[in-house]
Amino acid sequence: MKILITGGAGFIGSHVVRLFVNKYPDYQIFNLDKLTYAGNLANLRDIEKKPNYTFLKGDIVDQAYIQQIFQTYGFDGIIHLAAESHVDRSILNPLEFVKTNVLGTTNLLNVARHHWKENYDNKLFYHISTDEVYGSLGAEGLFSETTAYDPHSPYSASKASSDHFVRAYYDTFGLPVVISNCSNNYGPYQFPEKLLPLFIHNIKNNKPLPVYGKGENVRDWLYVEDHAKAIDTIFHKGKNGETYNIGGLNEWQNIRLIELMCSIMDRKLEQTEGTAAQLITFVKDRAGHDLRYAIDASKIKNELGWEPSLNFETGLELTIDWYLENTAWLENVTSGEYQKYYETQYTKR
Ligand code: NAD
Ligand code: DAU
Repeated sequence: MKILITGGAGFIGSHVVRLFVNKYPDYQIFNLDKLTYAGNLANLRDIEKKPNYTFLKGDIVDQAYIQQIFQTYGFDGIIHLAAESHVDRSILNPLEFVKTNVLGTTNLLNVARHHWKENYDNKLFYHISTDEVYGSLGAEGLFSETTAYDPHSPYSASKASSDHFVRAYYDTFGLPVVISNCSNNYGPYQFPEKLLPLFIHNIKNNKPLPVYGKGENVRDWLYVEDHAKAIDTIFHKGKNGETYNIGGLNEWQNIRLIELMCSIMDRKLEQTEGTAAQLITFVKDRAGHDLRYAIDASKIKNELGWEPSLNFETGLELTIDWYLENTAWLENVTSGEYQKYYETQYTKR
């Protein structure tokens, strides 16, 4: 089986590539990535020399390039993760999100459809999406697979749009597809613009921790390797045309999570309890900030037998240790373009 994984040099993609390369030596795994600021081949050093792994540098928006790699390699399955993924950046530059997330996804669907020529046996287009397409919950309730789409940020609107195109290719052309919508991931190799790695990095460097609004927003956190296992399960056992929600069953109000992180960091850095928490700085809220996300993951549990395996306390300790140990990785990805973006964004607040 030849599998194209897009966005494999990013955070979640690198964990999916690693899992597939190691677990399925008989599969040929092709990692297609443009290597934007968020893509880093250092995320895959441990598997890059394996005989069943090939890296392809390219843009999912580039039609001629995508056609060419389909002709050269003849993929059977696609696991599509490549995307612009950060909500704050989508507020600064929505068109970049439309280009990659909407146009790029539709380009892949279109090339797959023409390449497979309706000979769809053992073929699959698997789109990795987000719970943010469902909008925002109040204090109660959970997102299920039938919750109506109600995206609020340019990021979630672009992901919702790409989900609709995936379904349209299933309904109109019979392309075999599956979609999963997952909650917030955390773990090693996440770009330090997202809450957890950004705050670990800032605590270590004695920089302010910018908490949006009053820190009352709630997210459901899932360890990234558990997400990669869910993707493996859905890729092999998911039903054609179906959607599966994936979640950690692990809701945290931002400020409570930040306080917990501060206290773990104080212990790890051997400083007085309360030192890191002094860095907490309440800043202007994110525009259109969704209050709460929470997932009903009973469908994937009951139908496919997946559920999160790592408890949050263990996952958080592992994650903090990883960022404290991998300082060279952090220095590398936070230099250059990222540093410029970070400074302009936060001096504006
Ligand atoms: P990421 O930003 O860490 O990685 C994205 C990867 O896509 C990078 O390697 C980047 O170089 C690549 N890429 C971007 N534009 C590209 C293009 N035009 N062509 C080819 N490659 C391109 O993102 P992530 O957090 O790993 O998220 C991966 C996917 O999972 C996304 O589709 C995201 O919407 C979805 N998702 C993320 C989360 C989360 O918590 N991070 C949760 C649910 C769903
Ligand atoms: O729910 C899934 C989504 O989770 C994914 O689809 C996205 O790709 C991923 O980025 C993530 O989106 P969030 O916006 O929830 O993640 P982020 O880490 O940016 O923010 C988490 C919460 O923390 C959110 O309520 C905003 C808040 N926050 C974030 C940052 C970066 C702060 O208070 N301060 C910050 O500096």
